[in-house]
Amino acid sequence: MAQEETAHPAAGKGVKMSEPETSAQYDVWSKFYDNTFGALVHRRQTRAIAELRIKPGDRVLDLGVGTGLSLTKYPTDANVVGVDLSGGMLRKAKDKLDADGLHHAELVQADAMHTPFADSSFDHVMVSHVISVVSDPNRLLQECRRIVKPTGTIVVLNHFQSPSAVVGFFERVLNPVFVKIGWRSDLTLQECVEGLGLHVLYHFKLSWFDFWQIVVLSPTARGPMPATDLPRGAALAAG
Ligand SMILES: C[S@@+](CC[C@H](N)C(=O)[O-])C[C@H]1O[C@@H](n2cnc3c(N)ncnc32)[C@H](O)[C@@H]1O
Repeated sequence: MAQEETAHPAAGKGVKMSEPETSAQYDVWSKFYDNTFGALVHRRQTRAIAELRIKPGDRVLDLGVGTGLSLTKYPTDANVVGVDLSGGMLRKAKDKLDADGLHHAELVQADAMHTPFADSSFDHVMVSHVISVVSDPNRLLQECRRIVKPTGTIVVLNHFQSPSAVVGFFERVLNPVFVKIGWRSDLTLQECVEGLGLHVLYHFKLSWFDFWQIVVLSPTARGPMPATDLPRGAALAAG
């Protein structure tokens, strides 16, 4: 008999996200995403992609690709698959692929927590501003671990609840408000990766006052890693 899946506590903490609502919210968001939140992501996204250390011919999965702002930032000699739940967001991403002739990238509509891809089928997985948007963040990272190669890299770009008691208090209290606009503010990195056998290789912010962190994970532990240079194929854009 099939075993029933049990949601991780991170899924049910505070006010929950739900995929049907999220998809509908992002269908609406898609109309103005690039000129609002999307306008703020470029510099961080470019740096996060650099941390993947993509080599020619690598397969890259971008989960929750949204309107495809990241797609122009990947090297054109990699094979990129962008996945999203929202048809509205994917239509904007498709417009970018067509306008920029990005033949190295393709788009798939699917739930990032239950993708159609085989085990160990990607060299890298990018999860940019998505962890706090799904109903079960731990399940999403479990799926990343399944589809990335054992020596592969998962980069998560996200806001995590502050370890500061004061800031963390406000992030928890304000969470129901944030959920109404499509993301949650009460998530810790620790609970997202708990029990998955993923190693947090390193994590950092672009500046100390940045809300968002770049977290580099792998199923395999590695020794100290040198800082990345600029990514191949993209300049570190201002934004
Ligand atoms: C804040 S946007 C981030 C978009 C893009 N990654 C970026 O950094 O600009 C979150 C995206 O995650 C998508 N999303 C939310 N839940 C999802 C799920 N369960 N599966 C796939 N995509 C999902 C939304 O539709 C939306 O496009």
